[in-house]
Amino acid sequence: GRPVRASLAPRRPEYVPSRIDDPNYVRIFDTTLRDGEQSPGATMTSTEKLVVARQLARLGVDIIEAGFPASSPDDLDAVRSIAIDMGNTPVGEDGHVPVICGLSRCNKRDIDAAWEAVRHARLPRIHTFIATSEIHMQHKLRKTPEQVVAIAREMVAYARSLGCPDVEFSPEDAGRSNREFLYHILEEVIKAGATTLNIPDTVGYTLPYEFRKLIADIKANTPGIENAIISTHCQNDLGLATANTLAGARAGARQLEVTINGIGERAGNASLEEVVMAIKCRRELLGGMYTGINSQHITMSSKMVQEHSGLHVQPHKAIVGANAFAHESGIHQDGMLKHKGTYEIISPDDIGLTRANEFGIVLGKLSGRHAVRSKLVELGYEITDKEFQDFFKGYKEVAEKKKRVTDEDIEALLSDVIFQP
Ligand code: KIV
Repeated sequence: GRPVRASLAPRRPEYVPSRIDDPNYVRIFDTTLRDGEQSPGATMTSTEKLVVARQLARLGVDIIEAGFPASSPDDLDAVRSIAIDMGNTPVGEDGHVPVICGLSRCNKRDIDAAWEAVRHARLPRIHTFIATSEIHMQHKLRKTPEQVVAIAREMVAYARSLGCPDVEFSPEDAGRSNREFLYHILEEVIKAGATTLNIPDTVGYTLPYEFRKLIADIKANTPGIENAIISTHCQNDLGLATANTLAGARAGARQLEVTINGIGERAGNASLEEVVMAIKCRRELLGGMYTGINSQHITMSSKMVQEHSGLHVQPHKAIVGANAFAHESGIHQDGMLKHKGTYEIISPDDIGLTRANEFGIVLGKLSGRHAVRSKLVELGYEITDKEFQDFFKGYKEVAEKKKRVTDEDIEALLSDVIFQP
């Protein structure tokens, strides 16, 4: 492998140099291949992880958390192949190279494994974590708070001493941790060389205004925080992961940890597509923040992750569900035919979605005359008003019995009602 770097790089890693100093730039840290892979049944082979990593780079994510190398020799191999294969090759349109990150607990064995896996990348990162909530320290770690601080400080310094220029630290279960204790441990790991401080709402417990305050308080009260990037990592146990992530960004977090399709432990993580499109769609209200994601690759990325993880999204999933850009009720279809902005806040082109028909109209029992008539035009049939009256009566009978009326149903009905002698 490549020799380990002799000198330590500047504290702030150089993801995309032209953007890094812009305070409105929000880094997207994708953990589909680590936390996402922790979804029951979502294990991917090394080859599948590599294919997904290449797609994430094309999408423009700033950091790819490629796995948890100490968890198995296979995962170490997978992370290393990603670091070697695409960590050195510009993939984005602006010559962008993502940071390749490996997770580790706060112990030397994990950190060594993470470094062995990521050190081949042009921009390697080790992400190390230890729990800081009372319940985790007492029952899971069986350690005192001061022991936890000492371990965190020592392990961050150890990761830096290996030559890793970029070390992220997470106080696990920060959402339920004592505030003063958080300020203290974060101050210590910054002094030890942590470049990013990730604040996980590990059990998805906080409400958006609480999480916003947590990030604001950390920013205001942690000595040395100006030398590091604050990050969010929100789980979705109460369905609030996206809202909490945006609230954290509003309070000053400039790295957001997300997964494609929101996959992850239990109810999953904040979903990349929701967070990115909310920032894009409501940029002004969010204080002008923006990401480096090329949203046109969202649909393909979602499909690829569904395919390789085996986890399929529900039809009404925001942004990438099959129904997210489909319109069924007569009133909505009529509105869409008059002006697409009536019922769509995002253009499907923006996420790289080509719909079967321009207006996203799905015919069913709630569809009105306007939509059904335009479907006939789209299929190339010109019929008189009188013929349409007869046709529409037949249409309603068919639609009552079916969830969706297909082009084939329409053509069968035309042949029964109109084309019979
Ligand atoms: O949910 C969590 O706390 C995590 C950390 C390792 C960031 O996944």
